[in-house]
Amino acid sequence: MTHILMIPGSLRAASSSRATARALAARLPQGTTCTTADPGVLPHYNADVTDDAEVAAFIEEVRKAHGVIFVTPEYNYSVPGVLKNAIDWASRPAYESVFKGKPCLVVTTSGGALGGVRAQAHLKYILNGMLAVIYPCKEIIVTMANTKVEDGILKDDTVLDFAEEALAGFVATCG
Ligand SMILES: Cc1cc2nc3c(=O)[nH]c(=O)nc-3n(C[C@H](O)[C@H](O)[C@H](O)COP(=O)(O)O)c2cc1C
Repeated sequence: MTHILMIPGSLRAASSSRATARALAARLPQGTTCTTADPGVLPHYNADVTDDAEVAAFIEEVRKAHGVIFVTPEYNYSVPGVLKNAIDWASRPAYESVFKGKPCLVVTTSGGALGGVRAQAHLKYILNGMLAVIYPCKEIIVTMANTKVEDGILKDDTVLDFAEEALAGFVATCG
């Protein structure tokens, strides 16, 4: 069994990123298990805090996963603060964190036409700094994502069929 951790970048109940994460989870190859982290429960990063239970649980979730899939909107041309905060917590010790060598796939969404491509590039740059192993292609973006959500799930077979191939390729890299 390959275990995948999804990390969403939006906390909104009606989030199109979370709807996308649900649809992608349904398209993972057979033999894959998947759970979703909640970055919203984490405190603001503070190096003085060394005993927070939610932080410890999140780091353990990342450690246990064979691969991580980020599904995030773009905020102000970059990565939402709540997602960056979660990544910062799991990024220590530098170059020796749970992200070192961790296969990661980045999926971005947006309410507009660009699908969060700038956040996608920024997130990959951040992950590089943690020595994560970033799945290079095919890159998955979801444009006009809010118009494609029905009952909390992304309904766009063109995007999802395209994504399925990348998901299979990515999962094959997760030992
Ligand atoms: C604080 C904030 C900043 C945003 N900045 C961008 C942006 O830079 N680029 C973009 O395409 N959309 C931007 N948007 C619009 C989001 O793409 C849209 O609100 C999207 O639905 C958010 O993702 P969610 O549905 O998963 O919550 C922004 C939205 C918010 C709330």
